[in-house]
Amino acid sequence: MNLNPPLMTSLVLITLQLIAFTPSLQFTDQEIPSPKPWPHQFHALLYMNLSRGNLQISNLWYDWPGGLNLNIIQKQLGVLLYDVEWNNGTTFYYTVGDNGTCEIMRADVGIPRPDFLDGAKYLGTQVTDQGFLCNVWEKVDTIWYYEDVITKRPVRWDFYDGISTHVMTFEVGAVFNDYSLIQAPSYCFSQKTDANYTSY
Ligand SMILES: *[C@@H]1O[C@H](CO)[C@@H](O)[C@H](O)[C@H]1NC(C)=O
Ligand SMILES: *[C@@H]1O[C@H](CO)[C@@H](O)[C@H](O)[C@H]1NC(C)=O
Ligand SMILES: *[C@@H]1O[C@H](CO)[C@@H](O)[C@H](O)[C@H]1NC(C)=O
Ligand SMILES: *[C@@H]1O[C@H](CO)[C@@H](O)[C@H](O)[C@H]1NC(C)=O
Repeated sequence: MNLNPPLMTSLVLITLQLIAFTPSLQFTDQEIPSPKPWPHQFHALLYMNLSRGNLQISNLWYDWPGGLNLNIIQKQLGVLLYDVEWNNGTTFYYTVGDNGTCEIMRADVGIPRPDFLDGAKYLGTQVTDQGFLCNVWEKVDTIWYYEDVITKRPVRWDFYDGISTHVMTFEVGAVFNDYSLIQAPSYCFSQKTDANYTSY
């Protein structure tokens, strides 16, 4: 994910997000719900609209005890991209096939903790997508998170850089069946191949 969009874009988006809610809402402590922590393992099918309007479907397999966040991403009429995020901060992005490519990114932080929304600011309720009444939270001007009031399932989340994610299925407890299938290909580890290699 590009974490450094032009400042103006972020400001405009944040402003748009903020005015979507009634300003100066007051909640008493009793009325303030907390987001439900993510289940330690789940599979979700996600419909995503990226900053520039590019669309993709992502199969997200979140496995906190396994220390792994796996996204298998189908870009619209484009490549199938494997995005394997390990809790030690290493992420592999790769495609497979004749012209397989690989990028390795290293970050200081690992995958999101199940309680990564702790401390988020409650913004009230809003109906989103096709009629889902949601509690909405915002955290450090980075994520706006919509959770179904009744089922407590996540329905949608938006990032400050314009990526909007809509949850199509949410299977609690589902685990990816074979981690050997997501072993990063050999060209991730050798620059002397036909495939392009980038390391940050
Ligand atoms: C994707 O997002 C852009 C910008 O918000 C919007 O103009 C466009 O209609 C969206 N596309 C779809 C298919 O939802
Ligand atoms: C993190 O774990 C993955 C998977 O075991 C491994 O391939 C990678 O080299 C590790 N990264 C670091 C910085 O140790
Ligand atoms: C791989 O790249 C070559 C040369 O650019 C091209 O001819 C070929 O069609 C590509 N193969 C695939 C599967 O994209
Ligand atoms: C590697 O990247 C260069 C420049 O972006 C491109 O011209 C070339 O086709 C790529 N090679 C493969 C094997 O993808």
